[in-house]
Formats: sequence, structure tokens, C-alpha cells
Amino acid sequence: MSLKRAKITGIGRYLPEYILTNKELETMVETDDEWIRTRTGIAERRILKDPDKASAFMATEAAKEAISDANINADEIDAIIVGTVTPDYFFPATAALVQKRVGAVNAWGFDLSAACSGFLFALSSGSMMIESGRAKKVLVIGADKMSSIIDFKDRTTCILFGDAAGAVVLEEADSGGIIDFVHHTDGDEECSLYQPAGGSLNPPTVESVQNKLHYIRQDGKVVFKSATRGMADVSLEIMERNNLTGDDIAWLVPHQANLRIIDATARRMGLDPQKVMINIEKYGNTTAATIPLCLYDWKDRLKDGDNVILAAFGGGFTWGATYIKWEK
Ligand code: UT7
Repeated sequence: MSLKRAKITGIGRYLPEYILTNKELETMVETDDEWIRTRTGIAERRILKDPDKASAFMATEAAKEAISDANINADEIDAIIVGTVTPDYFFPATAALVQKRVGAVNAWGFDLSAACSGFLFALSSGSMMIESGRAKKVLVIGADKMSSIIDFKDRTTCILFGDAAGAVVLEEADSGGIIDFVHHTDGDEECSLYQPAGGSLNPPTVESVQNKLHYIRQDGKVVFKSATRGMADVSLEIMERNNLTGDDIAWLVPHQANLRIIDATARRMGLDPQKVMINIEKYGNTTAATIPLCLYDWKDRLKDGDNVILAAFGGGFTWGATYIKWEK
């Protein structure tokens, strides 16, 4: 049996309307536009203000656009995987809510928790379903309402994150598609980037809320160092494994956590900066949504045959890179 590959045939996204600028953040915490821009590259981010809407809403809107872009019907979808750390509920899964709302009546699905690597891990899981022959069409989504777990009084985290969703449809490829991936998980640093309470270890209590344990905690310096090393190492690893040099690569699609991390990764890969997709200035770090948001913004510039490397690093720690020979 010849190995099938998966390719991305449709891309969609959802961006909340509300734009939270650095200037507005200056009125909320002791920070300034200049500090945020030079240390992170972020100018503004989107916030989903409607209290009745959350990750499943954004995921559904992105999914609908991806399904339409792929020119398929929702009932053709075999599986739905949603990368998220901000699901509407612990259960049912966000994937179940999306399944119902897009009308994917023949799909099964689940959520995948890998923080900022959520989209990449979900993409690899979906592509393996297609490679195995078990699925023909898989919907892969990255969706996070980060504002639901942010302390807007903590200047070390509230300036970084935004809300959004991105989605892709995977189908069988004739030639190119998702060629390879290298993914890693290392639980050694579980408390360097995490949400301390809300799970089974520290269920919600009055004290846990008063002590702000339901918000993101991050040791920025530790994560910065590990992310810079991790994203660059894993991107080089996938290049070496596939005999690619910087010249062979058309695009790097990096997770958008910090412009300095992205620049360091591109330098280690020997890439011309023009080949790096960067939109962090507009959206900040949208966790599982960053990579599909980039693919969406650049979709008209991606050409069949382009060698594209996706790379991410996030809580867990989790990190990885994926090699796609672009074919739509
Ligand atoms: O997507 C998941 C992975 N996450 C990441 O990759 C994030 C990784 N970490 C980072 O991107 C960076 O560490 C941060 C952007 C979070 C922080 O940047 P930094 O250059 O590492 O700053 P720092 O933590 O070393 O802080 C430098 C100074 C400190 O003041 P002192 O101690 O030097 O007086 C901070 O208190 O900047 C201060 N500071 C701020 N100043 C103005 C921290 N946050 C702010 C702020 N505005 N928002």
C-alpha cells in the first residue's frame, strides 16, 4: 500500500473585532508602547468581548471559512481536532461543539492540549489519520480565548496574549503535502508556564479565585531561553532530516510569541528575513491560533511546490516543526 499524504486544502480564521492597543494597556498596567514593541514586537491584539462567546464560537467561524475555502460539504468531514488550552468546558470537548455547529454529522473529534504547539500537534495527528487511510477529510483548528485566563493587572503576561482562531481542512495529497514532522514534549518545566488551578489538582475554590490561580503564570526568562533554543533546534533538525538548506525554504511559519524568538530561529536556519511570516504586531500571541493565522494572511503568496517549515514552542514544554511541500 503506498503511503498517502495529507495536504491543506482550505484555510479560515476568526478575529474578534475589538482591538486592544498598547496605548490602552498603558491605562491598565504600568507599561508603555515602546517597551512592548521593542521587547515583543506586539502593537495590538484582539479581544473577544462578548461574554456569551468563547473558543468554540471562534473555532466554528474559522472552520466554516476553511470548509468553504476547501469547497467541500461539512458532512464529508471524518474528524475534527481542536488545539486549545481555553476550551469552553473541560467537557464536552470544543470539537463536539464545533461538530454540531458546522453540521459535520459524520465526524468524530476531540480537543488536544499542547498550549502554543497545539495547532502543530493537531495538524500532525490529523495528517496521520489521512496517511493511515482511516480518514479522507480532517478539520484541524487552533482556537484560544486567552483573555479568559489573563490577569489584566499582571503586566508581565497581559501584554502578550490575544484571542483568535484559525482552521484548516486536510485532504489526501497527490504529490506534496505534509512530508515530515519532529515534535517534543518535556514535562520538566511544568510550572514555568501554566494555569495553576481549575484542574483536578487544584479544583476551583473561593481561595483559588482570590489568589488568582486561574490565570496564566509564566517565568518569562526561562520560557524565552527554552523557546529560542527549542524552536531553532527543532527547525534545524527537520531541515537536516530532509536535506534542506535555508535557500531551499520558501517560508518559515513560526509561532508568534515574541519577535526576538522568531528572529533568532530564522537566523539559525540561515533564512532571508523576507521568507518569515510575521503578524505578531497585529494579533500578539494567540496560542494555538498563531500558525493558521499566518497561513491565512499569506495564503495568496503560497505557491505550489514551496517548501514551508512550521515551528512552535509552548507550555509543557511542547515544541516541534513540520515540513510541508505546499500544494493546494
Ligand atoms: O507562547 C508560549 C511561549 N511564551 C513565550 O515564548 C514568552 C517568552 N518570554 C518572553 O517573551 C519575554 O521573557 C517577555 C516578553 C515575557 C519579557 O521580556 P524580557 O526581555 O525577558 O523582560 P524581563 O522579564 O527580563 O523584564 C525586564 C524588565 C523588568 O524590570 P527590572 O527588573 O529590570 O527593573 C520587568 O519588571 O522589564 C520589566 N517589565 C516590564 N516593563 C514594562 C516586565 N513586563 C513589563 C511591561 N512593561 N509589560
